[in-house]
Amino acid sequence: MKLRVGILTVSDRSWRGERDDASGPLLVEMVQEKKWDVAEALIVPDDLDVLRDTLSLWADSGDMDLILTTGGTGFAPRDITPEATRFVVDKLAPGLAEAMRAESLKVTPHAMLSRSIAGIRGRVLIINLPGSPKAARENLQVILPVLGHAIQLLRDDENAEAGH
Ligand code: MTE
Repeated sequence: MKLRVGILTVSDRSWRGERDDASGPLLVEMVQEKKWDVAEALIVPDDLDVLRDTLSLWADSGDMDLILTTGGTGFAPRDITPEATRFVVDKLAPGLAEAMRAESLKVTPHAMLSRSIAGIRGRVLIINLPGSPKAARENLQVILPVLGHAIQLLRDDENAEAGH
């Protein structure tokens, strides 16, 4: 199944052009390797209103099945990605964040410092990934195998049963 994916880099420094965005392009590459479509890729600052507006606009556009954010999940004062996400989702999908943290703990104890969440707005799944390219890749790899089935279920696809 071909997913349509939005990729949102959340970083003040990349948004101001002070640091290259390595994680956004990496996620684009990983999505394309799956032969899925990248519907949008954008950098936004760590700003609650901007992030909230972008997430709801993208989710309600009808152009995406999945939105991946990268960055802003840690403990720094400006890190508000999980809060913005919590604001726009109708339902939480805690299993995805639990799985990412559980697997990441095998790599680094710093995994405890990611406050990332996942949730559903309408028929769109929104997932927070940490900011560094290494962390973004490691986390996405954990959940990649279940995303197709997750989106099938969200679409109420009659073939979803076959994936159980
Ligand atoms: N998860 C994995 N798999 N690998 C990592 O290197 N880095 C951690 C964590 N999760 C890491 C990881 C670190 S150092 C932090 S601070 C948090 O993610 C939050 O990252 P963020 O603030 O860039 O979103």
